[in-house]
Amino acid sequence: MNIGNVQIMIEVEEVPSKSRSLQPSILRKGLGQSFFATNLVFHEIADSTNSLARELGANGAPEGTVVMAEVQTAGRGRMERRWLSPGYVNLLFSLLLRPPMKAEQVFGLTMLLALASIDGVKEVSGLASRIKWPNDLYVGRKKLGGILTELSVRGNDVEYVVLGLGLNVNWNPADEESLPYSVTSILAETGKMVSRERLLVRMLKRFESYYRQLLTGEIDEFYERWNERSILLGKRVEFETVDGTICGKASRVDRSGALIILDDDGQEQKLVCGDVSVLEVQDE
Ligand code: BTN
Repeated sequence: MNIGNVQIMIEVEEVPSKSRSLQPSILRKGLGQSFFATNLVFHEIADSTNSLARELGANGAPEGTVVMAEVQTAGRGRMERRWLSPGYVNLLFSLLLRPPMKAEQVFGLTMLLALASIDGVKEVSGLASRIKWPNDLYVGRKKLGGILTELSVRGNDVEYVVLGLGLNVNWNPADEESLPYSVTSILAETGKMVSRERLLVRMLKRFESYYRQLLTGEIDEFYERWNERSILLGKRVEFETVDGTICGKASRVDRSGALIILDDDGQEQKLVCGDVSVLEVQDE
């Protein structure tokens, strides 16, 4: 913009009006000194960013490597499910970490990514989301995102961890009829598109600061916050076992990430993995 002979640069807050590819240069600038700026790997098309990050991890890539893709041809979720997402509208990425920890502590990292994502979404769009154990982000009864955590261990020591996040951002899920569960997106909830770069930068910066805190051994605060943001705790839930359906009240998540449920016979049931259905949902 020119006023007389003075040139004024106006920094316009970037809010996209239509889909375009993620811009690694914007990410790099936004990330500044963050360790996530050191090895940003961007693919237009990949099979799965988690698979690529695992390969990089096995080949010695540095901690803080971020693998992103616009399109995944074999995106994976928990329990061998597929992760479906149209290209150029959502966030699909994986983080490579090399934390000095034991395998049973890795749930703490999934927890941090869930919290960092919730914070980033709130800061950038105003949307409040919650956590559904063990790794989902929800708005009301609809899934906003999911985390897939994978690790490589030597003995019981972690060699590397890959944290993959699929987050529905500028997608209109009403366009997709063949989805197996109710999904939503930031756009569907707020009616507004957001800059995916800005959102990713916010989430990564948050995650990095939480991660540094976690490595000093300060973890209680994160468990508290995770529990506060959980849609399950204190709620009546049901889950399937080989012996049938068990109903009870979700009481807490233990340090290994297992969900402790007080069943209707007053017995504590420890759920290490799987899915639970919430019989009542608390909306924000
Ligand atoms: C789930 O809900 O079960 C977890 C879904 C995780 C999907 C993300 S998308 C980016 C990364 N790459 C993958 O193949 N999966 C994760």
